[in-house]
Amino acid sequence: MNSLLVCVVTLATFCNCLQFPSSFKKCDKRRSDFNDCLSGVVYDTLRILDKPLKSHGLPSLHDVEFPSDAFLEIGNSTYGLLQKISNYRLIGLSKPQSVKTRLDFGPLISTLTIEASYPELTWECQYEGHGTAVLLPLNVITPVELIMDNPTFIFTIKLEEYYKGAVYFKAVESELDMNRADGIKYDFKRLFQNRRLNHEFNSAMNEKGLQILGIFKHLQGIFAPHVTSIFNSFLEKVPVAELFVE
Ligand SMILES: *[C@@H]1O[C@H](CO)[C@@H](O)[C@H](O)[C@H]1NC(C)=O
Repeated sequence: MNSLLVCVVTLATFCNCLQFPSSFKKCDKRRSDFNDCLSGVVYDTLRILDKPLKSHGLPSLHDVEFPSDAFLEIGNSTYGLLQKISNYRLIGLSKPQSVKTRLDFGPLISTLTIEASYPELTWECQYEGHGTAVLLPLNVITPVELIMDNPTFIFTIKLEEYYKGAVYFKAVESELDMNRADGIKYDFKRLFQNRRLNHEFNSAMNEKGLQILGIFKHLQGIFAPHVTSIFNSFLEKVPVAELFVE
C-alpha cells in the first residue's frame, strides 16, 4: 500500500465528520416553514445529484441503472407469448420540476415523504417476446423506451434514530409510488421488421398508455430497497445535527 493511500484511509477513519457542502441549507425543526425549507433542500440535492457526489457516497441520479434481478416476466411461449422486460434504466430523476417534502418526527420512527414531479421521465429497457401474438409467430429482442408525461413519484421513507458518537438516522423501510402520470408513450424500436407496422403498433400502444402502465407496478417493490440503500449511504455519514437545527 503506498503512503498516500494509507494517509487517505487513516484520515477517512478518524475524520468521520463530513462537512455538508455549503450549498445545502440547514432547516430549523421548530419553525412552521420547516417542511417548505426541507422541500427546497431536497430539490437542490436532487439537482446536485445530476452528477455523483463522491464526498457523501451518493451516486448520480441522472441515469439510474436497476439491478439485474429487476425484471418482469409474463406469459407462456407454448400457449401465447412469453414476455420479459429487463435491463431497466430510469433517466431524469435528478431534474424535478417541483418537490414537496414532509418530515413527521415520531418517538421511534420518523417518516419522510418526498413527492417529486417531473415534466418527463424516460425508462429504457429491453423487451423479449417468444411465442405468438394473435397467432402471428413472434421471436424478438428489442430495446424499448417508455416516456412518462408529467409523472409524480412519491417516496415514503421510514427513519430510525441511533447513536454512534452522535445521533444518526437510518432508513429502515421505503415505499414508492411511481404510477401517477398524465400519459405514457411507448417506443418499441424493432418489434416488427416492417417499419410501418412497428410505428402503427407503437401508436396503438400509446392510445392505451396509462391502462398499460399498471403492469409496471411490480417495479416499485424492487426499486424500494435500492432507494433505502441510497439514503443510507448518505445518512450513515451525516449526523442528524448536520441536517437540521434542533
Ligand atoms: C405453458 O402452459 C401450459 C399450460 O399451463 C403448460 O403445460 C406448459 O408447460 C407451459 N409451457 C412453458 C414453456 O412454460
